[in-house]
Amino acid sequence: MVVSVNQAPELSDSAFATWQDIIEDRLGLQLPEQRRSFLKTCLSIRMREIGFEDYLGYYEFVRSGDEGLIEWNQLIDRLTVQETRFFRDPAAYSLVKDHLRRRIKDSQRPLSLWSVGCSTGEETYSLAMLTAEVIQRSTEEQPIRFGITGSDISKQALDRARKGVYAARRLELVDTKLQNKYFVPVSDKFQVDQQIRDRVCFVRLNLLELSRSPLRNLDVIYCQNVLIYFRKWRRKDIVMELASRLAPGGMLVLGLGEMVDWSHPDLYRVPGERALAYLKRN
Ligand SMILES: C[S@@+](CC[C@H](N)C(=O)[O-])C[C@H]1O[C@@H](n2cnc3c(N)ncnc32)[C@H](O)[C@@H]1O
Repeated sequence: MVVSVNQAPELSDSAFATWQDIIEDRLGLQLPEQRRSFLKTCLSIRMREIGFEDYLGYYEFVRSGDEGLIEWNQLIDRLTVQETRFFRDPAAYSLVKDHLRRRIKDSQRPLSLWSVGCSTGEETYSLAMLTAEVIQRSTEEQPIRFGITGSDISKQALDRARKGVYAARRLELVDTKLQNKYFVPVSDKFQVDQQIRDRVCFVRLNLLELSRSPLRNLDVIYCQNVLIYFRKWRRKDIVMELASRLAPGGMLVLGLGEMVDWSHPDLYRVPGERALAYLKRN
C-alpha cells in the first residue's frame, strides 16, 4: 500500500518531538527537521498497516509491554537507512588489504574482523572476500584462519545478511574474478558461497550498547556510514569504545568525514586523504 505524505495524518510539533526523543534515546539516531516528512511517512504507513490513527497512540503502544517491543523491532527496520554496496569505499578496502598483508607477515595468529552497522551484509562479505584473497596470496605455509562478525540493530537487515542472496545488479561493484569465485547462482539471484559464509557471523547489537559486546582484540574494525546519524558526542563515545576493542596494531576504519577533530592517545591516523583509518600502537 502506498501512502503519500499528504494522505498521512498531520504530525504535530509535539508528536514530532516525542518521536524524535524516543528514536534518539533508543537508537542514538538524530532526526532533524529536514527528516520530519520521512518520519511522518514511515510512521503513517506502519500505523495504517496495523490500525493506528494517531502518532501519540502508536507511540504509547510501542512503549508498552512485549507487543510494543515486538512492534518497535519492526519499526527499527523502517527508521534506519540501510543503503549499502559491495566494496563501497575502494580506498578504504585498499588500506585494509595492505594492513592484512602486513599483519599476516608479522603473525600467524588467526585474523578477526568486525563490520559495525553492516546492514544487509554486503560490507561484511566484501571484507571476507578481501581477507580470503589476501590469505590465498600470502606465501605462508599454513593458510591463516579468519573470522568476521557483522553487527547491526535491524533484525530484518541481519536476516537478509545471513541468507547472503543478492540480485545481480548488487554485484556490479564486485570484480568479475571475485564474482565467479565467491558467488553461486540461485534462481535469478546470486548467493555468497559457503566457504565465505562459513567465515562470517551476524549478530544483533545496538551501537549504544557496545559495552555488552564480547568482541575484543580485533585486527580490523570497519564502521562506515553509520556515525553520520549520531550527534558528535555520541560518535566520540562509540569510537572510543571501538578503539578499546582493537588488538595492538589493529586498524579502525571510519567513513571519510564521519569523525572530525578526533584523536586518541593509543591510535595514529593512517596517512592519506581518500580514506579515514587509524592504527593502534603496539
Ligand atoms: C547506511 S547503513 C551502512 C551500511 C554499511 N556500513 C555501509 O557503509 O555500506 C547504516 C546501518 O546502521 C545501522 N544502525 C543504525 N543505528 C544503529 C544502532 N544504534 N546500532 C547498530 N546499528 C545501527 C542501520 O540499521 C543500517 O543498517
